Amino acid sequence: MCGIVGYVGQKNAYDVVIESLKKLEYRGYDSSGVALKTDEGIFIAKKKGRISELEKDFPSVPSSNMGIAHTRWATHGAPKDENAHPHTDCTGTIAVVHNGIIENYRELKAYLAERGHKFTSETDTEVVAHLLEEFYQGDLFTTLLKILPLLKGAFALAIISQKEDRILAVRQDSPLVLGLGRGENFLASDIPALLSHTREFVIMENGQIADIRAEHVELYDFEGNAIPIKITKVDWDEKQAEKGGYDHFMIKEIMEQDEAIRSTLLGRVDRGRVRLDELEALQEELKNAERIYITACGTAYHAGMVGAYLLRHVAGLDVEIEVASEFRYAKHHWRENSVGLVISQSGETADTLQALRMMKADGIPVIAVVNVVGSSVYREADASLLTQAGPEIAVASTKAYSTQLVVLYLFALYMAKLKGLLTQEEEQNILEDLWSIPEKVKQVLSNAESVRRIAQDTYKANDIFFIGRQLDYMLALEGSLKLKEISYIHSEAFPAGELKHGPLALVTADTPTLAILMQEDVLEKTLSNVSEVKARQGDVFVLGFERDRKRLEDIGRWSFFVPDTLPLLAPLVGIPVLQLFAYYNAVLRGTDVDKPRNLAKSVTVE
Ligand code: F6R
Repeated sequence: MCGIVGYVGQKNAYDVVIESLKKLEYRGYDSSGVALKTDEGIFIAKKKGRISELEKDFPSVPSSNMGIAHTRWATHGAPKDENAHPHTDCTGTIAVVHNGIIENYRELKAYLAERGHKFTSETDTEVVAHLLEEFYQGDLFTTLLKILPLLKGAFALAIISQKEDRILAVRQDSPLVLGLGRGENFLASDIPALLSHTREFVIMENGQIADIRAEHVELYDFEGNAIPIKITKVDWDEKQAEKGGYDHFMIKEIMEQDEAIRSTLLGRVDRGRVRLDELEALQEELKNAERIYITACGTAYHAGMVGAYLLRHVAGLDVEIEVASEFRYAKHHWRENSVGLVISQSGETADTLQALRMMKADGIPVIAVVNVVGSSVYREADASLLTQAGPEIAVASTKAYSTQLVVLYLFALYMAKLKGLLTQEEEQNILEDLWSIPEKVKQVLSNAESVRRIAQDTYKANDIFFIGRQLDYMLALEGSLKLKEISYIHSEAFPAGELKHGPLALVTADTPTLAILMQEDVLEKTLSNVSEVKARQGDVFVLGFERDRKRLEDIGRWSFFVPDTLPLLAPLVGIPVLQLFAYYNAVLRGTDVDKPRNLAKSVTVE
């Protein structure tokens, strides 16, 4: 996740793009940069760190009426000045900013290097500037049409050339909007970044190119055919604008999950095979690994439980998993050939960090699944697998969890392959389903209103229970945590089979139970437990797959069916429903959703 903006008009472009860029810092703040078209050539200002660092280094810049800018969330290449965008070609006459991942950049880089192009960064983006240079024959637009079929991955691009008075923007699976003005036009990764300039927008769709000039804007498809422009008028107040038009950061982040999941998958699946280049240095340790120790806190721990299940079931590994606050004080009898796996959104959680240090001190190589590049966990782990969730602002973790799951699926497949337990066909089948998840998550999210209606019936409850078996139980744990932390409704998750060993005593007509019924092999068993609840007059909310609708729809008082996928991938399509359920219960109770009482985003104390 990165943020991009662009401006062409009569005003001082630097001031305009910097002001808008600051509103996109939520999308990343590892580095920032600006490219301005001036009479002397393209002027580039870029710097590691926040936008304020850039402003300190560049208090004045040449005057210009056209520019593009970028704030970065590092994906390829560490946060440093050279890797900051914009990137230019060898001649410095073409500048590019990019949000997304060019998956095949290594091949493109090799091809361009052979043809004499010199690269100055480790980024995937730089290849775009060099490709444009390579194919340029006097017109940037026709050059762009030639290079787009060569790019694989996700990209929102903004491009300027010293020779032309326009910005070209491209959207493919990364967000981009155009802002319309009088004698000036804008582009940005989201609407709020431009609200101080305009209320009229064109929301770009995938597969579109925009030709943005001071006087007008035109839209084309990737074949160069003109597309009619549809203008959207926006009427948000300032508070709503900061949250992308939503009432809270949490719901905004829930709604961003399809994009976050797609970004996390990008570059990690190559011709139907998992590719985790980040683990190359640990090949031997991973090949010999017999036991994996997983540790994390809270939501990250719940993701870890799914990871443990996958490593056991898919990769045939022995796994030990414990919350970090216990793990770090426990007596461990480390086995030979062990590998540690820590999971953390912030990369700064004190217990997780200490658990990591303890394993390292005892000679266990540690892999981190982490969202923040440069965080302590990221720096201290032997290898890091980055989740591409982008900054998460709401205290309750949502998109970090779903992207942690994605990385853990990839890691389990990677390990299964190393262990020779997965045929190419099996790998391909799972990956195909995994690739369809962003679209399925989007479908679930578009049905948020149905979840809100269920919450309208449940928000006054004092207790809500979650039940499930196997992966459904692990998902139940996360759904229950989400609900209690933001709505303050007392909630617990139970393995469905445990109900009659105690918790059933708590079930009355006033305690709704959310039953997750997505694991086919234990579904009938969980249905028996649902009957136990109903026999005590407890209301039931059923979460299942669309394919089981007929079988399940009369079971509960409420039900929600998600698009079909492999049972193994159920947590990915199920979690948005539970997050929405927690969110709407909290909103209806009037709690401080983004900052629940007594909780903080990053827990740096024990
Ligand atoms: C719950 C939540 C917390 C965090 C936990 C670990 O919604 O956000 O349970 O998951 O504090 O934080 P990280 O992942 O930053 O280590």
